[in-house]
Amino acid sequence: MLQGKTAIVTGAAGDLGNAMALQLAEQGAHVLMWDIVPRGEAADAIELVCQHDSAAQYAEVDVRDRAAVDAAIALPSRVDIVCSNAGIVEAQPFLELSQDNWQNHLDINLTGCFNVCQSAARKMVADGARGRLILTSSWVGSIPWPEISAYSVSKAGVNMLVKQMARELAAHGILVNAVAPGIVDAGLAGRQLREEPQYAARVAKVIPLVEPGTPEEIAAAVLYLASPQTAYMTGSILTLDGGCSLFQFDA
Ligand SMILES: NC(=O)c1ccc[n+]([C@@H]2O[C@H](COP(=O)([O-])OP(=O)(O)OC[C@H]3O[C@@H](n4cnc5c(N)ncnc54)[C@H](O)[C@@H]3O)[C@@H](O)[C@H]2O)c1
Repeated sequence: MLQGKTAIVTGAAGDLGNAMALQLAEQGAHVLMWDIVPRGEAADAIELVCQHDSAAQYAEVDVRDRAAVDAAIALPSRVDIVCSNAGIVEAQPFLELSQDNWQNHLDINLTGCFNVCQSAARKMVADGARGRLILTSSWVGSIPWPEISAYSVSKAGVNMLVKQMARELAAHGILVNAVAPGIVDAGLAGRQLREEPQYAARVAKVIPLVEPGTPEEIAAAVLYLASPQTAYMTGSILTLDGGCSLFQFDA
């Protein structure tokens, strides 16, 4: 389905990003994996993707560093699909929230998406590529959840960034959408489930479909947003949260 396309995935050494890179490669895309994790530590994630795209590449790119992002974007001859997925979460109750915590979330989760997407969009426009920008938001970008003010606000910003870019880039044939995962038993939430008992206790009460999601389910939605089937879709936030955001809960 994606033969001849080049895709960049940020946060590709992480659980969701690696699943995205893998599914894109399985569909024939040439995949460029970006992360801040040193190559050696990402060896398993790289190996997995290389099984389907023997030319897959890995680069240490910090999405906060605009010069590094611009330099990495300039390398491939063409970029068709960008999954702006790198992110962090560090829970802190609002009254204890430090400015560093607040700023880190905005820098990585929101400004990181701005850097990657603007840099990629400029290249797509210059190359005449009618590309796809696919951002990773979160269900908590529109629903408040305890002790993650900075994270939630960063994802709310991602949602508006998607709509702004979709509107302005439509004239260039560039489509911009997001996936909004719910609670996935991997990556950021997986760590919280294992390390924060109060988080696990809340989660046990809030998923109408009962089980947490999987990275593969989120990656399949990303693949859909990269596919010819969604050529008329832009500015959408595709939510996969097992129904979490459908009702008010006492967590
Ligand atoms: N796991 C979940 O339940 C869940 C739910 C909703 C949204 N998300 C979102 O999914 C995305 C991926 O998270 P994950 O759950 O796979 O976590 P993860 O920790 O497994 O992956 C995140 C990756 O981002 C990388 N990263 C962090 N800072 C970076 C930077 N400055 N530059 C480049 N890379 C950087 C990390 O090294 C890591 O490999 C995030 O945007 C997250 O907010 C996850």
